[in-house]
Amino acid sequence: MPTIKEILQTMDYGPASETTKEAQAWLDQHGRRFGLFIDNAWSDAGETFATNNPADGAELAQVTQATDADVERAVAAARRAQPGWAAIGGHGRAKILYALSRLLQKHARLFAVLETLDNGKTIRETRDADLPLAARHFYHHAGWAQLQSEEFADYRAVGVVGQIVPWNFPLLMLAWKIAPALAAGNTVVFKPAEYTPLSALLFAEICQRAGVPAGVVNIVTGDGRVGEAIVNHPGIDKLAFTGSTEVGRLIRKATAGSGKKLSLELGGKSPFIVFDDADLDAAVEGLVDSIWFNQGQVCCAGSRLLVQESVYDKFIGKVKARMQNLRVGSPLDKSNDIGALVDPVQQQRIHGLVESARAEGCEVWQPDVELSTTGSWYLPTLITGASTSAAVAQAEIFGPVLVAMSFRTPAEAVQLANNTVYGLAACVWSESISLALDVVPQIKAGVVWINTANQFDAACGFGGYKESGYGREGGKEGMYEYLTPLAEDARPSAPVVAEKARAKPAQADSPFAVDRTAKLYIGGKQARPDGAYSRAINGANGDFLVDIGEGSRKDIRNAVEAAHKATGWTRATAHNRAQVLYYIAENLAIRADEFANRIAQQTGSKDAAREVQASIERLFYWAAWADKYDGAAHQPPMHGITVALNEPVGVIGIVCPIENPLLGFISLVAPAIALGNRVVAVPSEAHPLSAIDLYQVLDTSDLPGGVLNIVTGSSDELARTLASHGDIDAVWRHDGSPDGCAEVERLSSDSLKRTWTGGAKGRDWFDAKQACGRTVLQHASQVKNVWIPYGV
Ligand code: NAI
Repeated sequence: MPTIKEILQTMDYGPASETTKEAQAWLDQHGRRFGLFIDNAWSDAGETFATNNPADGAELAQVTQATDADVERAVAAARRAQPGWAAIGGHGRAKILYALSRLLQKHARLFAVLETLDNGKTIRETRDADLPLAARHFYHHAGWAQLQSEEFADYRAVGVVGQIVPWNFPLLMLAWKIAPALAAGNTVVFKPAEYTPLSALLFAEICQRAGVPAGVVNIVTGDGRVGEAIVNHPGIDKLAFTGSTEVGRLIRKATAGSGKKLSLELGGKSPFIVFDDADLDAAVEGLVDSIWFNQGQVCCAGSRLLVQESVYDKFIGKVKARMQNLRVGSPLDKSNDIGALVDPVQQQRIHGLVESARAEGCEVWQPDVELSTTGSWYLPTLITGASTSAAVAQAEIFGPVLVAMSFRTPAEAVQLANNTVYGLAACVWSESISLALDVVPQIKAGVVWINTANQFDAACGFGGYKESGYGREGGKEGMYEYLTPLAEDARPSAPVVAEKARAKPAQADSPFAVDRTAKLYIGGKQARPDGAYSRAINGANGDFLVDIGEGSRKDIRNAVEAAHKATGWTRATAHNRAQVLYYIAENLAIRADEFANRIAQQTGSKDAAREVQASIERLFYWAAWADKYDGAAHQPPMHGITVALNEPVGVIGIVCPIENPLLGFISLVAPAIALGNRVVAVPSEAHPLSAIDLYQVLDTSDLPGGVLNIVTGSSDELARTLASHGDIDAVWRHDGSPDGCAEVERLSSDSLKRTWTGGAKGRDWFDAKQACGRTVLQHASQVKNVWIPYGV
């Protein structure tokens, strides 16, 4: 007699197809032809393109390719609407966001079916994940709108926001973009992906019903050209993009120097780490969610499986057995696990990458499942035997393809996990909480799931490290992306700085008439510049003061190397970092008069003593923050918590302001090191001596070598080198050079560094509102959200 297990194995699901009647009726009602949604009205369809059902290739509708003139109209409508939308206040906006979430829930089935038809993802996912998460996002942000005047009192809306999303989660990405933007009082010009525009068009109708005022939400459809028109439009104040890293780079370049605020949510190649003490069966289920959710077309898909050697064979055996049971087929069938790929183009791309792995000698394993001959499909695939540098181990495949490797020790797991240009997400599976929590901070990724995978919630921020982009979506940190501090509006114009000093022969009676060239400060030691060049620095009265070392590309390289070695600083306790900052302040205070004289001598400032006192206070201020910039413990709808950790960015290059040579320097360097970053600083080009005088203060203040490196010389040259350096994580430039700031932003796009630039405006470094506070903390840190479920 067969056992129950054997009986269960022979049982199969019957077809359980969701009806498309309502969605087809909606398409018919529009004549299967759509115009654009601008200023609360539908335009006639212009030049159109087809959007197809990936499961069978059938055309669903014709959709308009927006023109530049359409984008112009949309931006103009959004601009007109913005002051009114901001003026209705938090409660006014909360009511409308709430209405949007209610309407999404009411029409959830229509949305879910339409999304499945347009995208090819399974109805189980659209019904159980995309729709509930989208509605939750509007609920959550109705709350932020309601609380705005209390929680974001010192901020205003950014203005008009351009938003561009990909095709993998069309409605969910819309919710992630539109809900926070609207909550904060912005108006939007939104572009869905060309493969999947339909749910955004249905959402436009929902906006009309929810009473969203005209011009607040504008939806323009089309391909990358429409995206480009939005990116380049001068009437856009902020861009929020989700998509490929290549296009993210283009957008960073195109917006350099424009002053547009930017958040980029880009690609990933996320590790799924299984330690030998993990619950292997649970890990297999987590893996299914991680890499086969949405056919693997997920930016945070766990596409690199790293398994501890001792359980590798056993785990791979379990994975193959599970893969054999994955149900691939009609996305509308409620019992299917894997649907269709969005487009044959993706299928060909994935096929190309997998075949290249096969040609390189990797083993490619796929379950024995028959696929439909129409539509675009790809079998769940497991690749083993790939080298760490193979294309399949490095490139974002964006399909149902898993690449497996083994590791021996936790250290090796971390090293493999971080061996990628991306840093979006990671999964860690272990029954040992101390092992998991030891590994988490070492992984460079914006989201880490412990013993779970692909969990999302509106209250928990999501976003990447490294080339996965910057900015966060969701949570309080996501709201800041759509807000501008009021203090930014109060910034003065850039100070007029006297022409750069030109050397004059030293005066015989000058105390500085000795021939000494001030050195650079690298790795905790004074260092001669590599090129042995120097430049003469004159005082405010034009007299020669001293020659300083002219730093070069090689010096920056040495400084970055020293900074990278000083990892102990990042691991040091916050208390320890605070102590060092207090100590620097104390040692500066002892020499306050000397520093004041030096400032006066260089700049002619009458405020020099005040600048030194303000610098001491600023050191105290950032020392105070060092152990107080706590993260948060979110409570998402899961039995567990999500811990948001504020982590340092890494190595930051800082080009300091020309004016206020001491206060400007300290105002930027101190917060960076207070939060555990290591710094390569370029002091005021015209008045570098205050920073040079600090070398001795630093030497006597227990600051470990390499934490702060100082390279004097040309701001332009050195900023260029910092911005194009592959091993620097962020560059800040605040010397009032608009072209220089634009160049930093442009060059930063290669490795997608974060930037913080002052542009053409100055900053009142004495004014705490302009020089201190949360904005600076945010620039000096990045949030990692760690999901920790409870229970056994
Ligand atoms: P994509 O990055 O080209 O498209 C994303 C969005 O950007 C779409 O709305 C597109 O119309 C728009 N766009 C394209 N070019 C633009 C430009 N120059 N300026 C402004 N907007 C522009 O991604 P695509 O072509 O859909 O997919 C290609 C590959 O990108 C995928 O195979 C995958 O590897 C990756 N990808 C990654 C995503 C992620 O979330 N990490 C999402 C989508 C794609």
